[in-house]
Amino acid sequence: MPNTLPSTLPKQRLLITGKSGQLGQSFAKLVNEYPQYDFIFLGREQLDLSQPDSLERALESIEFDTIINCAAHTAVDKAESEPELADAINHQSVKQLAQIAKQRNVALIHISTDYVFDGKNHKPYIETDPVDPQSIYGLTKLKGEQALHRINPKGCIVRTSWVYSEFGNNFVKTMLRLGKERDQLGIIFDQVGSPTYATDLARALLELLKQIGTEDDKSDNQTDEVLPIYHYSNEGVCSWYDFAKAIFELAELTVKVNPIETKDYPTPAKRPHYSLMNKAKIKQDFGLDIPYWKDSLQACLNELQNTNKN
Ligand SMILES: NC(=O)c1ccc[n+]([C@@H]2O[C@H](COP(=O)([O-])OP(=O)(O)OC[C@H]3O[C@@H](n4cnc5c(N)ncnc54)[C@H](OP(=O)(O)O)[C@@H]3O)[C@@H](O)[C@H]2O)c1
Repeated sequence: MPNTLPSTLPKQRLLITGKSGQLGQSFAKLVNEYPQYDFIFLGREQLDLSQPDSLERALESIEFDTIINCAAHTAVDKAESEPELADAINHQSVKQLAQIAKQRNVALIHISTDYVFDGKNHKPYIETDPVDPQSIYGLTKLKGEQALHRINPKGCIVRTSWVYSEFGNNFVKTMLRLGKERDQLGIIFDQVGSPTYATDLARALLELLKQIGTEDDKSDNQTDEVLPIYHYSNEGVCSWYDFAKAIFELAELTVKVNPIETKDYPTPAKRPHYSLMNKAKIKQDFGLDIPYWKDSLQACLNELQNTNKN
């Protein structure tokens, strides 16, 4: 009797927003490692999150099973002087994406931030700790989370912190540039957190997806289930000062790093002093083995070196 079963399952189609951002490009790096997914990358030309009302039309003709929302207004200081734009991108558009996900019965994985907290904790933040953002960026990201909770599509929110990668602009790349230009630098030592290598985050999100599925795991009789929040960063803890020291050490750059206080480096947006997040929930629910921040830093520096060689 002929075998009528399809030999392969249909590929899950992942729609990734923010294709030219750090996380978006980190997903692009992993495409060959995850052949079970079809990746659809969209940039602001195809999907402009500053125009929430345009999103439904922009996605009308695209078929997908999951949205991974990597796009955001991430210019934390600039957001203080353009709150409407930050709100459109980080809140109103997230609301629209959630509505679209709900209507189409597809999952939405949304990335949020440690900036939803006030940074006054003395122990790692858990997902249910009270939120109290101290900046426009943090506030708009929180409103995005809250809209998601109200609309409650399938999927989850993953909060992360201190993201860096070989792509775009970030602390690691700034330190590598400054380290070649200067022989000493003042770096803040009274803000602590955990860096996140964007490749590790992208990989973790793909592992999550494997397990949460997108089909009917939140069926009609489960719609009042609360959209889960997870915390993800690399393992370990450091200050920006420690982070800079490690970058110079691993990159073999001789730079004297002087510890300075937050008050000595005023910025338009207030940064949390304590950004550490407890990752027990994501590790337990998905069996993730999260790399230590210094090992991931080394991996990123290796990637940067390889790219420069090519
Ligand atoms: N970076 C961090 O330290 C950090 C920390 C905690 C949480 N997060 C969160 O992690 C996620 C990924 O961050 P990331 O570091 O990858 O950010 P990123 O490198 O700044 O990338 C942000 C992306 O959003 C896109 N974008 C901005 N405005 C847009 C618009 N109007 N329409 C469409 N796309 C727009 C950007 O497009 P263009 O390239 O065209 O500008 C870019 O691709 C974000 O949700 C962020 O809030 C980041």
